[in-house]
Amino acid sequence: MARINEHYRTLSAGYLFPEIARRSRTFLEEHPGRSLMKLGIGNTTEPLTPSVIAGLHRGVGKLASRDSYSGYGDEQGNSDLRETLAAYYAGRGVKLKANEFFISDGAKPDSGNIQSIFGLDNIVAVQDPAYPVYVDSNVISGRAGSFNREEGRYGKLHYMPCNEENGFFPEVPKVKVDLIYLCSPNNPTGAVATADQLKGFVDYARSNKAVIIYDASYAEYISDPSLPRTIFEIEGAETCAIEINSLSKFSGFTGVRLGWSIVPEALLAEDSEPGELNALWNRRQCTFFNGASNVVQEGALAVFSPEGIAESRQLVAYYMENARIIREGLVSLGLKVFGGDNAPYLWLRTPGKMSSWDFFDKLLEETSVIGTPGSGFGPAGEGYFRLSSFGHREDIIRAVESIKANLKLQEKA
Ligand code: MLT
Repeated sequence: MARINEHYRTLSAGYLFPEIARRSRTFLEEHPGRSLMKLGIGNTTEPLTPSVIAGLHRGVGKLASRDSYSGYGDEQGNSDLRETLAAYYAGRGVKLKANEFFISDGAKPDSGNIQSIFGLDNIVAVQDPAYPVYVDSNVISGRAGSFNREEGRYGKLHYMPCNEENGFFPEVPKVKVDLIYLCSPNNPTGAVATADQLKGFVDYARSNKAVIIYDASYAEYISDPSLPRTIFEIEGAETCAIEINSLSKFSGFTGVRLGWSIVPEALLAEDSEPGELNALWNRRQCTFFNGASNVVQEGALAVFSPEGIAESRQLVAYYMENARIIREGLVSLGLKVFGGDNAPYLWLRTPGKMSSWDFFDKLLEETSVIGTPGSGFGPAGEGYFRLSSFGHREDIIRAVESIKANLKLQEKA
């Protein structure tokens, strides 16, 4: 008799973004003729750059001849790409070896899968609010306990509140936890951790033999040179942190798919030897993954050419100009806005203490703009709302104009 993994039943609701898509479809069915402006999911819109297109063509070209054709590649990724990534980090003063990089098809699968190399009795700490994959992957594996609907929390997770008082970056836990998910620049709040704040977590992790799972997917959006772009800028982080990253938001690979995880050889868990976690992740990838697409890896190599980097930085600048336009529009209405200066997400306090989902409905009804309710990212996100700066410039301008012209604030403010 087959039985399901009953932990799926403890998932609090549908995954956030499909739920938003469902509500948007319902709205359109009920309001024929209205068109929506989507500032909800962080999905890139601008075309791949010339260097990347040339790289992808090169990858396809190689497959067209017997001499250069390749079938399965290394599960860990193309060695040139791993060396290139190590050199890119070295350019930031961070020394890592190529065999510490594992190429994948994106940061989302890696951030969901990485927990599988850790025991089920680890206590997991998450920022609250957080990218839902960190929580849901631990719910599915059975580390989260049951969901308390009133509190909007799982009983066994340790929530680290991120709020206006702490600048949306948490204090280190006062209790002992084992796995700590951090995301900086943060999705959803747009807050960026300082070196001192990260050092606090590195010190905590080292003294408690905890492991930090650090999602740096938005690192390229940092323009302030004083802010760390990788946790490995912090001394000792190689003994207590895994970093996950991707080309989705840097180079528009959301649909192309390419990410990587860095599992240092020096990384330690309470019960492991140096090198063991690196070997476990290698084993996991060899068992479940046949490597990222060879064509896509050629495109990724092109990203890290001097022209490719310059072009990707222009893409980032384009989205950050969108962020500036959104912020300016919201601030002109008197809304309280956070993030959006070293991150592509803007995090606003809902007017008049409205709930996040009520504000979602209001924004949709009055302005036809879709955003993301903060409560979908965790209980501390209640009363907040996320807007994404990924979009064509003209659509962003249209959305901001619509918010400025149509959002009725006086009733609830
Ligand atoms: C988001 O909107 O939070 C992200 O685009 C989702 C993702 O990267 O998976």
